[in-house]
Amino acid sequence: MKDKFVLDESSKKGIALTFDDVRLRTGYSEVLPDNVDIGSRFSRNVSLKAPIVSAAMDTVTEYKMAIQIAKLGGIGVIHRNLSVEEQAFNVSKVKHHLNGLIEKPVCVFENDSIKSIFDRIEEKKFTFRSFPVLNNELKIVGLITRNDFDFCDSLDCSAKDIMSIDLLTAPQETTVEEAFVIMKKEKKKVLPLIDGNGFLAGMYSFSDVKRVKTGALSSYNLDSKGRLRVAAAVGVGEEALRRVRALVEKDVDVIVIDTAHGDTKLVIDTLKKIKSEFAVDVVVGNVSVGESARRLAEAGADGIKVGQGGGSICTTRIIAGIGRPQVSAIYDCAKAVESFGIPICADGGLRHSGDIPIAIAAGAHSVMMGSMLAGTEEAPGEVVFYQGRKWKVYRGMGSLEAMKSNESSRERYLQGEGKKQIIPEGVEGLVPCKGNVEETIFQYLGGLRRGMGYAGANTIEELREKGEFDQISLAGIQESHTHDVLITKDSPNYTKEI
Ligand code: XMP
Repeated sequence: MKDKFVLDESSKKGIALTFDDVRLRTGYSEVLPDNVDIGSRFSRNVSLKAPIVSAAMDTVTEYKMAIQIAKLGGIGVIHRNLSVEEQAFNVSKVKHHLNGLIEKPVCVFENDSIKSIFDRIEEKKFTFRSFPVLNNELKIVGLITRNDFDFCDSLDCSAKDIMSIDLLTAPQETTVEEAFVIMKKEKKKVLPLIDGNGFLAGMYSFSDVKRVKTGALSSYNLDSKGRLRVAAAVGVGEEALRRVRALVEKDVDVIVIDTAHGDTKLVIDTLKKIKSEFAVDVVVGNVSVGESARRLAEAGADGIKVGQGGGSICTTRIIAGIGRPQVSAIYDCAKAVESFGIPICADGGLRHSGDIPIAIAAGAHSVMMGSMLAGTEEAPGEVVFYQGRKWKVYRGMGSLEAMKSNESSRERYLQGEGKKQIIPEGVEGLVPCKGNVEETIFQYLGGLRRGMGYAGANTIEELREKGEFDQISLAGIQESHTHDVLITKDSPNYTKEI
């Protein structure tokens, strides 16, 4: 990445800048916004088709958000204010969402009672109702589907009493395409696969196969097995290792060590332990100073998350007097880890789509968003009506409520169980409801593409390289926003105030 005059000069004077302090310069361009390549990386080995990441917050990212974000090319980070089992369940929901092939179908035995099967469904929160039925030799002898359950009169029946034995199976090597043709022709919703020894070797479900066949897969962020990518947040110490184990078992793509202060011995020790025990990419944060980013890179980080106190719900800078305006923080960290070849995720403080190209031109490979996604339908926050409008609750992970109700939140801000009183570093509030993630991200990525067009950058790497800034004044900010006009028609991608 080349030097950026405005950021270098301000840094020499000990001044740090943020989004509203700068704008990108335009230049000669032959770049058409619709043709730019917005592919990037979240971590050393995990790529993105769009440089967007949803924040590891309990009012932003659970599986519904992560599924949508991955379908749009990015990655969601499942928050850690969940039990280990709940968080692993969320990861598994994302990984199985497309399920071209169910590699290890959940089976039942022919003598299992229907009651015991229902108990298992309840306990494991299964959302599907198709189960291959096995005999004592572990060979498939039948199939139970939703219909069979619906027409079952007594919970005391056993699986073999209600299963259908009219089985259609296919060889283990059957591809999704072949399965689609077979299932459509035979009007079968489930297709078990059998290996050379007659044992069950996988299963296709028609709804999944159809989705894979007809979905707009080209924009999806998929792993090597065709499953949506997902990341998950962990803290530090033994609890983090326990979480990582459960998450890796569900094939999580990236672990994010999610702390308010990433440059600490506890974080570095945890990072080293995870890297020595598991073959998984680990993104670490948060930091805002180049030296800190370099220390994490040297300790083995596969990506660095940058941002301290810039988030919309953060009060760290006010309560603790700590933090660094985000554009300078991104630039400093990006420069510091350039030779390590690992990407930077710019976390927090973004308010408009135009902040995305700015973050990238400052050195980020991706942006993490909280408030910009918290108002969407897929965010887990509850909808409330207030002053005649619909809002969603959005709260800081260091807010009083989040810390009171969850140990992970307290640990993120180094506030242990023993403390009588909590010192919050965030607030709880409302953001306006703003439709679904797809429409919302469409606008954000549209803004990024337009920014790349103006800057003459065909790729994210080119924008990081070429993007140059002007520092602007308060008058410049006022001029940048709409002025001297009463807006009478809202635009889907612009609001001045909440
Ligand atoms: P935005 O601006 O996108 O910021 O809403 C989201 C990011 O803010 C961080 N975060 C916090 N920081 N106190 C803080 O100082 C908090 O309570 C808090 N909760 C979240 C986090 O990095 C997130 O991605």
